Amino acid sequence: MSTIRCDVLVIGAGAAGLMTAITAGQRGRHVQVIDHANKIGKKILMSGGGRCNFTNTGTTPANFLSANPHFCKSALARYSPYHFIEMVERHGIAYHEKELGQLFCDVSSKQIVKMLVDECQQAGVQIRTQCSVERIEHGTDGFRVQTTHGLFHCASLVVATGGLSIPSLGATGFGYEIARQFGHQLLPTRAGLVPLTLSGTHQERLAELSGVALPVEASCNGTSFRNFMLLTHRGVSGPAILQISSFWQPGDALSLDLLPGQDAAEWLRQMKRERPAAELRTVLGDVLPKRLAQRLCEHWLPDRPVRQLDEPDLRKAAQVLSAFPLVASGTEGYRTAEVTLGGVDTNEVSSSTLESKRVPGLHFVGEVLDVTGWLGGYNFQWAWASGHAAGCVV
Ligand code: FDA
Repeated sequence: MSTIRCDVLVIGAGAAGLMTAITAGQRGRHVQVIDHANKIGKKILMSGGGRCNFTNTGTTPANFLSANPHFCKSALARYSPYHFIEMVERHGIAYHEKELGQLFCDVSSKQIVKMLVDECQQAGVQIRTQCSVERIEHGTDGFRVQTTHGLFHCASLVVATGGLSIPSLGATGFGYEIARQFGHQLLPTRAGLVPLTLSGTHQERLAELSGVALPVEASCNGTSFRNFMLLTHRGVSGPAILQISSFWQPGDALSLDLLPGQDAAEWLRQMKRERPAAELRTVLGDVLPKRLAQRLCEHWLPDRPVRQLDEPDLRKAAQVLSAFPLVASGTEGYRTAEVTLGGVDTNEVSSSTLESKRVPGLHFVGEVLDVTGWLGGYNFQWAWASGHAAGCVV
């Protein structure tokens, strides 16, 4: 098969790879993008319930988890959410803010993929799908990458293969293999932004409430998120849980404030004054989903009229309501996780160019690196920003 010569070969036609390609192509570089999947940007298509939460206007480095929290600063500072919004507006894509700076397409995430593909075309970037890499060699004259579409010979190689989440969307650990091949350290990977599973009595007592949703404040290891929680057949999900899952590891304590923003003890005292004859389950049913209130009173709280609660009872009940100890047994894993925590150690990668400090010309962008955003558009913003930073230099 023929040899394809180019300045830049990007492996992975996802968010970070396409942004790298666009930026480098606009600089006049000859760029090729390859992907083993049959479609470009499958995760973008699936994201945000089909409407792609493509950025978050409040993005700061504090919204990311990494062994080196400073690493993401440089790229994020040079490509802000407003740079991406400018591209979205230039392509006439209507969008809206859902909450907390999260921007979604009004119509479909397909528009974001089309925009990226159009930008690639304008920048002269060639994209090939269903193209798998068989071997990568590095010499003084660059990289030789043997693929099912022929041999690519390039000066810069960009690894944009993402993380392990959702293998059915094309996710593989191939980026980690390339990193290993070139002597890079990897930090342990685990599923993030993922539903948690419960076991034992918690699972038995709560499984029947599957479908019940309520606002909570979920806390773990000193971090808290206030948002909705959804009870599922196997455990808990919803934005509050997905957020806190990235901070949780097996064995860690996890607690839920079921009355977020309220002083539970004060509220119970008020109920005792105002509705003394009412059962606790009844008054709780006014502020929590009724089925949950009932279940709490069957197993965790005193099932009697509130006037019968003395101060110690009341404080104990308040403790259950404000710091309900959730015993998670695990996560739903990469099958449903939105992201992968850990990955290529950022200490061996330049934060300004995303270039390997070990192998000149080798770059890592996006989720393959040990940089993981919170839920809410931050992960795409990292993909755009890191892709842009690499695209400026390759
Ligand atoms: P990405 O995974 O996008 O791209 C990697 C590409 O590499 C893929 O096209 C893959 O096929 C290819 N590849 C993998 N192995 C390969 C191999 N061996 N050879 C060749 N190609 C290979 N984030 C956010 O900010 N807002 C949101 O709304 C959502 N929603 C969301 C929903 C769902 C269901 C998921 C799973 C994830 C999200 N995310 C998100 C997270 C976001 O999708 C993710 O962080 C980015 O897509 C990461 O971009 P990358 O380009 O790094 O990887």
